[in-house]
Amino acid sequence: MDFDKKIGEITDFARENLSESRFSHSLWVAGTAAAFCANYNLNASRGFLAGIAHDICKEMSDERIWNLAAKDGSEADEIEREKISLLHGRAAAVLLKERFAIDDEEVLEAVAHHTFGKPDLSDLGLMIFVADKVEPTRERKNDLRALQKLPLRELARKIVLENIAYVKFKGKKMSNRTFDFLDWLEEVSKQ
Ligand SMILES: [Fe+2]
Ligand SMILES: [Fe+2]
Repeated sequence: MDFDKKIGEITDFARENLSESRFSHSLWVAGTAAAFCANYNLNASRGFLAGIAHDICKEMSDERIWNLAAKDGSEADEIEREKISLLHGRAAAVLLKERFAIDDEEVLEAVAHHTFGKPDLSDLGLMIFVADKVEPTRERKNDLRALQKLPLRELARKIVLENIAYVKFKGKKMSNRTFDFLDWLEEVSKQ
């Protein structure tokens, strides 16, 4: 796969379909994911591509998001049915496959599951989950250099715990998948 070409096409699509602030967030996630990937000996181009793509459906209508996400064959859980926009990651993975011919399963999984995480998420998926939550324009300021000294799964565990606290503080509901994700991370970081 020609990553540079795909990254160019998806960046253009993101610029055209997102508000300025969400496009800027997407660029920051892409850059943060690429830097973290390089730090953890993962492919930085895949990190950048998944990062720039992760929110491409976030500002689409509920109907369009629902119709795209429905094609991935998974059920929507209760909180996704209540708030369709929570399916924007799954919708983006379908769009990447259909419109941009992305066939890298780890990239697709990382994009599909960036909001809630899930058990057995790949290392690339952990990177995108983390980068989305810690990129420098987020309101919570993290010391990115200090974070990158942690083993990858410990880093992900720390960010999931922070994310759960943040979502609670905002009075929003958390998906059970995030708790399953945390249980899995606790299990594998002991190994
Ligand atoms: Fe998102
Ligand atoms: Fe995001």
